[in-house]
Amino acid sequence: DLRGLDLLAEIDRLKRERNAVILAHYYQKPEIQDLADFVGDSLDLSRKAAATDADVIAFCGVRFMAETAKILSPQKTVILPDMDAGCSLEDSCPPDQFAAFRAAHPDHIALTYINCSAAVKALSDIIVTSSSAHIILDQIPKDQKIIFGPDRHLGGYLARKFDRDMLLWPGICIVHQAFSETELLKLKAEHPDAPVAAHPECPPHIIDHADLVGSTKAILDFALSSPANTILVATEPHIIHQMEKAAPHKTFIGVPGGDGNCNCNMCPYMALNTLEKLYVALRDLQPRIELSPEIMDRARVPLERMLEMAG
Ligand code: 13P
Ligand code: SF4
Repeated sequence: DLRGLDLLAEIDRLKRERNAVILAHYYQKPEIQDLADFVGDSLDLSRKAAATDADVIAFCGVRFMAETAKILSPQKTVILPDMDAGCSLEDSCPPDQFAAFRAAHPDHIALTYINCSAAVKALSDIIVTSSSAHIILDQIPKDQKIIFGPDRHLGGYLARKFDRDMLLWPGICIVHQAFSETELLKLKAEHPDAPVAAHPECPPHIIDHADLVGSTKAILDFALSSPANTILVATEPHIIHQMEKAAPHKTFIGVPGGDGNCNCNMCPYMALNTLEKLYVALRDLQPRIELSPEIMDRARVPLERMLEMAG
């Protein structure tokens, strides 16, 4: 029974006792973002996880992010407040099916979005995030055949924008897939001067209206540096917390999903992490990421390639 506990003070005490660092993604609840040592996008979180000298990484994000931290820092204990914090992109790409897809295209390299399991990373040549994909693609010769998985929208966006022919795995993010073009057009009509920032996991009918397409970090930077006073945000709306903190005089509007009356633009996996679960995880050092050394060794190669190529 955690009632009566001062969770913030307890988390802080345990963090010191354990020599832990708390890393959080922009889609986490505001109270988690506020107590984290670092909040970032997938690429910056990977860099932090690889560089930290803490003994314990408390990862407030989803499982593939915590696994990435473990793979890059295998000697560290990596805890995730809720082990059920998965990702629909990971679910869409079972390793055995991905292995068969690769085997059917032996002359292709596998450029793989970081939103996938460790086993799929182990089957890949280079990992990318939404902020590093274009820099990495630029270093791959034009005549090199490429398989891109598991996000077909990010892959399709890259293929169109950089005129690259890529074989796409048919995965989607259930959150970005749900953004409504009708609702976006209504918002644009109400706020004709407001630019639109969208994540590349959005389908083309959203991307086509965007003034900026980029990672969560790129969306945040754009929202803060734009001279506009109102910004329309087509990604998971918890990132708006950072925008409002940094620019309280501006208005940031999250684009609704579905018919505008659902919470389907919120990531149900990210939402599983709570302060209570973070406290328990720091106290018990559970749930903890455990991966086979063999998978980690193989998955580290394409991840380190990403860090090197992304600069
Ligand atoms: P970023 O790398 O842009 O933070 O994206 C992570 C993610 O899961 C988006 O849905
Ligand atoms: Fe996965 Fe989408 Fe959630 Fe990101 S927002 S973690 S891609 S389900």
